Amino acid sequence: MRHLRSDTDLDAASFARVLQLGRAIKRRPADYRDRLAGQSVAAIFAKPSTRTRVSFEVGIYQLGAQALVLATSGAGGLQVGRGETVADTAQVMSRYVHAIVIRTFAQAEVDELAARGAVPVINALTDSFHPCQALADAMTMQEHFGDLHGRKLVFVGPGNNVSHSLLLAGPRGGFDVVCACPPSAPPDPAIFARAQADAKEAGTRVSVEHDVVAAVAGAHVVYTDTWVSMGQEADRASLLARLRPYSVTQAVMEAAGKDAVFMHCLPAHRGEEVAAEVLDGPRSVIFDEAENRLHVQKALLLLLLEAEPWE
Ligand code: CP
Ligand code: NVA
Repeated sequence: MRHLRSDTDLDAASFARVLQLGRAIKRRPADYRDRLAGQSVAAIFAKPSTRTRVSFEVGIYQLGAQALVLATSGAGGLQVGRGETVADTAQVMSRYVHAIVIRTFAQAEVDELAARGAVPVINALTDSFHPCQALADAMTMQEHFGDLHGRKLVFVGPGNNVSHSLLLAGPRGGFDVVCACPPSAPPDPAIFARAQADAKEAGTRVSVEHDVVAAVAGAHVVYTDTWVSMGQEADRASLLARLRPYSVTQAVMEAAGKDAVFMHCLPAHRGEEVAAEVLDGPRSVIFDEAENRLHVQKALLLLLLEAEPWE
């Protein structure tokens, strides 16, 4: 059994296979209708979501399966919100459903769910990673640039879950990734070290820079994300002050390659991490990127549930 606990669960071949199947599903969705008929997929959300929740629920429906979207708090929430262990939850859920999608805080909960359950687990965002997003981003890059090899993506913003997944996606997809961040908000050192080791092996590059204009030179993609991730609300004032020089303005886009596109995982905050004229401008591919979440996640479900071969 396989999982997508983080980007490191994919090697270059399986990364390419998810993207290839995602593109095939996007071209001919009807060919995949009902491929998971009779199966049930639980999607657990301990944090808010628009894209992930809706695209998983719709995607599961489109594959003919039942989606159970489950909260972790409130009257309709899972007992895990009242202290039931993740291990017990994993074992119970594995008796009912065929796969579990989970968005939560600690990466350890995703790892525990996968270790203790008996069904594939998909990370739908943790404090550390957002692998479904990075897959959709890579698919969107393929749509714009064809081959990913030799492309350069520059993430402008804090070291966070989205930048971590992009740093790990680069070596898997064959593209270079630069994280342009303030010295006080770098990527997690252990995750960056893993990305560096993977990049060395793959023959790609990952780096951390602090000067945005220098970092975006020659970029094919300029990417940003919110400065305040879910769970960091108490640090909002400090993060905003530190990140102010890292806003993606029209001047930053002009410093990038003339064919560079702008990407953002969304939700966006106009006037903070990105200027409205960039987000809403002609180089922005944000809605293709959001749409591609649906297609790559359907591909992931088919592969992890062995309805499609990995090779
Ligand atoms: N990009 C993304 O994961 O969006 P949501 O938080 O709305 O799911
Ligand atoms: N870094 C953001 C991504 C949202 C999709 C967060 O964790 O809130």
